[in-house]
Amino acid sequence: MKFQVLTSILSSPLLSQVIALDHNFMAYPWSEKQWRDIDEKGHLLFVGQREHVLAFSLFHLSSAESLAHLLKIVVAPTEQGQVSTDFFAMQEEYLRSQGFNRIYLEVSESNLRAQAFYRKLGFKLLHRAKSYYSDGASALMMELSL
Ligand SMILES: CC(C)(COP(=O)(O)OP(=O)(O)OC[C@H]1O[C@@H](n2cnc3c(N)ncnc32)[C@H](O)[C@@H]1OP(=O)(O)O)[C@@H](O)C(=O)NCCC(=O)NCCS
Repeated sequence: MKFQVLTSILSSPLLSQVIALDHNFMAYPWSEKQWRDIDEKGHLLFVGQREHVLAFSLFHLSSAESLAHLLKIVVAPTEQGQVSTDFFAMQEEYLRSQGFNRIYLEVSESNLRAQAFYRKLGFKLLHRAKSYYSDGASALMMELSL
């Protein structure tokens, strides 16, 4: 799989495939409008593709705090268990090269696979927020030092 970082998110011809992955595989997807209203300068989008986009991750960046907030990550089911750690390693390397020293994220307490993935990558639990999501699910806040 070919991994790349997209700095011009809104003009990328790959964006519609990213949005489709978000809608198909994220528990709390964004509307088309939320995607199209994104502030490009403050975000970073990584994609993994063969013929089609099969993986993406979206970060919100706080340069002043050297903090990258992982908003979304999807690896298509056909690719899960195979490429995700390499995909994430590429993101860590890129963020480190840009001066970021922490990745922060929230994950639903019910998403056991994602939690196992983050723990495997070295993320540590910061705290648990009860009834964090619109459906009442609680969230775990996790952080990784780069
Ligand atoms: C989250 C995601 C990117 C992780 O990628 P992945 O390819 O599934 O991750 P991996 O297979 O490398 O790692 C997941 C780990 O969880 C384990 N696992 C699988 N199902 C599990 C379950 N139900 N409970 C606990 N652990 C589980 C796997 O065995 C694996 O551990 P291992 O490598 O030690 O065997 C991917 O699952 C995904 O896109 N999910 C849908 C979207 C999503 O939920 N995104 C995260 C939102 S916060």
